[in-house]
Amino acid sequence: MKISNKYSLLIFVLTFLMSIQKISNQTDTMTTTQILRDGETIISSGGIFELGFFSPGNSKNRYVGMWYKNITDKKVVWVANREIPVSNTSGVVLKVIEPGLLVLLNESNGRIIWSSNTSRPVKIPVAVLLDSGNLVVKDANDDDQGNYLWQSFNKPTDTLLPRMKLGWNFITGLEVYLSPWNNSDDPSSGDSTFHFDPSGYPQLVMRRGSVVVFKTGPWNGLSYSGTPNLRKNPNFKFGIVINKNEAYYAYELLGSIISMYTVNPSRVAQRLIWVSRTRGWVIQHTAPIDNCDTYKVCGAYGSCNIVNSPICGCLDRFLPKDPKGWDRADWSAGCVRRTSLNCQNGDIFLKYSGIKLPDTQYSWFNESMKLDECKVACLKNCSCMAYSPLDMSTGGSGCLLWFKDLVNIRELSKAGQDIYIRMASSELELQGKNKKVLEVSLSLSIGIFLLGLILMLYLRRRKKRNHRFRTGSRPGDNYIDRDNKKSRDEDIELPLFDLYTLTKATNHFSINNKLGEGGYGPVYKGLLKEGQDIAVKRLSRDSLQGRDEFKSEVICIAKHQHRNLVKLLGCCIEGEEKMLIYEYMPNGSLDLILYDPMQSAVLDWPKRFHIINGIARGLMYLHQDSRLRIIHRDLKASNILLDSNMIPKISDFGLARCFGGNETGANTSHVVGTYGYMSPEYAIDGHFSVKSDVYSFGVLVLEIVSGKRNRGFSHRDHHHNLLGHAWILYKEGRSLELVDACIDVSGYLSEVLRSIHVGLLCVQQSLQDRPGMSAAVLMLGIESLLPQARQPGFFTERDAESSSSTNTAKSENQMTISMLEAR
Ligand SMILES: *[C@@H]1O[C@H](CO)[C@@H](O)[C@H](O)[C@H]1NC(C)=O
Ligand SMILES: *[C@@H]1O[C@H](CO)[C@@H](O)[C@H](O)[C@H]1NC(C)=O
Ligand SMILES: *[C@@H]1O[C@H](CO)[C@@H](O)[C@H](O)[C@H]1NC(C)=O
Ligand SMILES: *[C@@H]1O[C@H](CO)[C@@H](O)[C@H](O)[C@H]1NC(C)=O
Ligand SMILES: *[C@@H]1O[C@H](CO)[C@@H](O)[C@H](O)[C@H]1NC(C)=O
Ligand SMILES: *[C@@H]1O[C@H](CO)[C@@H](O)[C@H](O)[C@H]1NC(C)=O
Ligand SMILES: *[C@@H]1O[C@H](CO)[C@@H](O)[C@H](O)[C@H]1NC(C)=O
Repeated sequence: MKISNKYSLLIFVLTFLMSIQKISNQTDTMTTTQILRDGETIISSGGIFELGFFSPGNSKNRYVGMWYKNITDKKVVWVANREIPVSNTSGVVLKVIEPGLLVLLNESNGRIIWSSNTSRPVKIPVAVLLDSGNLVVKDANDDDQGNYLWQSFNKPTDTLLPRMKLGWNFITGLEVYLSPWNNSDDPSSGDSTFHFDPSGYPQLVMRRGSVVVFKTGPWNGLSYSGTPNLRKNPNFKFGIVINKNEAYYAYELLGSIISMYTVNPSRVAQRLIWVSRTRGWVIQHTAPIDNCDTYKVCGAYGSCNIVNSPICGCLDRFLPKDPKGWDRADWSAGCVRRTSLNCQNGDIFLKYSGIKLPDTQYSWFNESMKLDECKVACLKNCSCMAYSPLDMSTGGSGCLLWFKDLVNIRELSKAGQDIYIRMASSELELQGKNKKVLEVSLSLSIGIFLLGLILMLYLRRRKKRNHRFRTGSRPGDNYIDRDNKKSRDEDIELPLFDLYTLTKATNHFSINNKLGEGGYGPVYKGLLKEGQDIAVKRLSRDSLQGRDEFKSEVICIAKHQHRNLVKLLGCCIEGEEKMLIYEYMPNGSLDLILYDPMQSAVLDWPKRFHIINGIARGLMYLHQDSRLRIIHRDLKASNILLDSNMIPKISDFGLARCFGGNETGANTSHVVGTYGYMSPEYAIDGHFSVKSDVYSFGVLVLEIVSGKRNRGFSHRDHHHNLLGHAWILYKEGRSLELVDACIDVSGYLSEVLRSIHVGLLCVQQSLQDRPGMSAAVLMLGIESLLPQARQPGFFTERDAESSSSTNTAKSENQMTISMLEAR
């Protein structure tokens, strides 16, 4: 009796020891003999993701979930038992059981709380947490992705991780979609879901129950039509795949950033980026953005514009179907054509621009058709209501046709797309008849307009005077008076924006509106009430400059207007805040396109040559034609902005002159200049002149031709920078090899060779060998014999950095002295 008792005790202890084999902290794999209890975690092999028990928000319930291991602001990206919380985890374990299930098990009563839904049995089932954040169940000896028994990427909760496919596998019939947490304390899925809907043409769809609440608009090759701020970005690659096996949306991270796409409990999809410096998640993009994104809010052929009141209107040539309802803000009936269609008599198409494309649920597409074929196809079928190009990444190829009424349209001004909507042919005649009337009324209205303008200017002046009077009488505020007098003396009318307007226009300087960070502070995109896009440069507060100086300098910038300089629209000074308001440039800065392998082909040779010439003329104006000679000092690709017609505009000019003197601290490197663009005499001796700008211009020309950065350039045959490379090729008569491989320059050979030659002349070591900007403009423009180029300054990158780093202090000191060179 005793013996057998001892024996059974031994067996018990042995099995106990075996079954208790816990997860050691460093494993990423779980076998059938291991268990995971509350308090323990498993970690992916690269240390990126961690799996374990957690309690969300203020809840006491326990869930098994996954999160980024290293991130202090823990955001759970996946939850196993989201619908079945565990209130007391004593005796509850996560383990793999035969024949291949991952289960959350109550060991006390053997009840399975949650289980992976595994497809088939295997010999050695294991669960592995991969570095991608995919928790998979597989056979230990089989690493083929296609053979996973189960994977969390197929059953996400509210978060789309990089490389996860949001959409459909037509072979297995599996749809992967997101559903937000019910609330921050409760990961259970409420009734909301977020889908990739390939019907018609793909768009993302948010549903509440079975009701559609938001659609992004169709994929247009670059982004979803209604989410233009989800732009191409050096940190991400994203896109859709549609073929007969699958249809999905996915993204990939390119840099070392951490980012996720998640749907919050309020049904807002957000892209979050982890910013380690501030230890916080930053929202980079949200959808829906506002009420106008509510699905079908304005009904058929209605168009939503959030800055209008009411927000809904009918498209041009359409009228409310139910005018009474429309007046009551019931827009659901939508709009109808003011002239009905008559398919037999032949219809026409009219172009509508700047819109979020309508719902594509009932549509048809062909990727290879041209736009005119597309029109013919639509014309042939009486139920086809509109057509548009399909793929904007190729400049507008392919064909998308809409059947049934057009819904879910909103105005997007510049970021919107074109669509051609079917109209009765008599609309065209109406347009013709209107033309004569138009001509008469035009001359009349011009008269009225001019009168109005004069009146307005008069009233504005009066108002300004009153304003001055009032503010001038406040003690301590008389600087405004002085400034206004000064500005009036010099005939400059520079609008003063108030902080409230700018705060509103930039959505409280929201991170979503941030366009970039210049040396003097961040730049935000803004939208004025009148619908004008602006760029607001918010100067860093630590600039010590006084208000008086600020204003006079701003007026000085405002006076320099040229087609190739960014236009200053006004400024704002309130309290600590100093801001400059510029026109907004939809195509961003040159570097974003030029160095982007996906986009650089957009810049064909004629465009590049045009840009080179534009920069040259802008710089010539600053150097020679403006009243005060301005030296830019920081000319570089990121300071060249491109307007909608790809006309280059130099930005940040005058700022160096105006604000450079007192800048200290982190931004100093920008003020001093940018490596790769700095001339030797400037970097080494701190001496600068118009010829140092010419040097930067030369670097820029070679960069534009080659599509490569000077700084960071590398070549397998030598260790020179881009200038050195260009020089070697030039000496050997092989200059054409410098040209960006993605553009075709046959037909422009002499322009190309001349540009490279001028570029090299501009970067000569000796100041005397560099042409002035007016000479450079001439050289670019006409066939003429150019002087031989000699070896450029800063042949190799190392020269530049070693010599300048020892001398930066010196160059900073001297910079302020020679900043302004009056003629
Ligand atoms: C996580 O942080 C630790 C220390 O903070 C660091 O050593 C480790 O490299 C980090 N791991 C990852 C994947 O970033
Ligand atoms: C969980 O249950 C165990 C045993 O049933 C008990 O000892 C423990 O106090 C419980 N814990 C909580 C937090 O209720
Ligand atoms: C686990 O089983 C025990 C025994 O039946 C029970 O008392 C306990 O409440 C169960 N725990 C959970 C979380 O279901
Ligand atoms: C497992 O998957 C099958 C088929 O996909 C489904 O019918 C079944 O309901 C699923 N079971 C669970 C527990 O989710
Ligand atoms: C979701 O949360 C609300 C409270 O915010 C609660 O009333 C509701 O029951 C929850 N729904 C589900 C399905 O848990
Ligand atoms: C798409 O258009 C091209 C060119 O018109 C045609 O050859 C092709 O058959 C079309 N594809 C489909 C699926 O209709
Ligand atoms: C027009 O297009 C619709 C939708 O694709 C289709 O059902 C219908 O048959 C077409 N009609 C003609 C005449 O081609």
